[in-house]
Amino acid sequence: MKLYVWGTGCGAGDLIDEALPPEKIEAFVERGGGGSFLGRPVIAPENLKARDFDLLIVAGRDAEGVAKELAGLGLDADKVFYLKNHLAPVDRNRNYELAAKALNDNYVNRIRASERLIRVPLWTERERIAGEGSDNDYVRLKTLEAICLRLEGVPGAAAELGVYRGGFARWINELLPERRLYLFDTFEGFDEAESAGCGAGFTEAHRNTEAGRVLSVLPHPERAVIRRGLFPQTAEGLEGERFALVSLDADLEESTLSGLRWFLPRMSAGGYLLLHDYNNPKLPGVKRALRRYEAEAGRVRAVPISDVNGTLVITV
Ligand SMILES: C[S@@+](CC[C@H](N)C(=O)[O-])C[C@H]1O[C@@H](n2cnc3c(N)ncnc32)[C@H](O)[C@@H]1O
Repeated sequence: MKLYVWGTGCGAGDLIDEALPPEKIEAFVERGGGGSFLGRPVIAPENLKARDFDLLIVAGRDAEGVAKELAGLGLDADKVFYLKNHLAPVDRNRNYELAAKALNDNYVNRIRASERLIRVPLWTERERIAGEGSDNDYVRLKTLEAICLRLEGVPGAAAELGVYRGGFARWINELLPERRLYLFDTFEGFDEAESAGCGAGFTEAHRNTEAGRVLSVLPHPERAVIRRGLFPQTAEGLEGERFALVSLDADLEESTLSGLRWFLPRMSAGGYLLLHDYNNPKLPGVKRALRRYEAEAGRVRAVPISDVNGTLVITV
């Protein structure tokens, strides 16, 4: 079977780790194309027309945008399978049997059984939050918006540890246009030793970004300060800084703990730290990191929210 995968981000990484080894993929597809991912070539969508493919697996979250683009190219919708179908406002998957031939049954059944999420009725065209990194996560973004409104009069900068492609940083930057926004990331994935036990797809997908790409999605890039490299070393020289809002999204235990230790004592009164993935069963190190921090420093005041990956909102 000639299989193509749209996307070279985390969705594609999960697919590789759970159901499809890269050697079974003819090529990955990304707007612009070029280069390679996990040893396979990356082609532009328009080049798909000349390829005789059996199935295009769409791993990214923007099913709507991809579907429109494929229709514009005149490609057969029956040969397309959307992994994040449950995030889209309409059900697009028509060919589960074909997908089951390409992937394993359990994996495909899980996608079929994924419930359409409750936030879908809240999703409106005016507030369209689809797009790279946002996960169509209405609750996460609306919570951020409400928090930013509460920050009036609270001094300090904004920061994110764990930026990846800037999917969330873009919203912080939009909602807090006057604040400096520190962006801490290696922009080439996790610390090798720390991610040693993680899947190849997960680690490789997170390498697939760069600071320029992040700056290009920010509405106010002039407010951003890129701190490239491994945290907490990249925070050196910023010890006197104070923060009103921090997004801590480092996925793994030691880096999350470093983030908690470094940022929490530097938060302004009235500030918020958003600990992403606290209730994400796929990333248990985040909760372990908070427990370790609380054992050292005492219990934090926090509200868990019901966004997709279970953010814990820590208040100061
Ligand atoms: C899940 S991604 C962040 C996603 C992003 N916040 C969003 O919502 O779109 C996690 C990121 O953390 C970064 N990271 C993890 N530990 C780090 C560390 N110690 N120093 C710098 N970056 C780190 C990785 O490089 C990766 O890009």
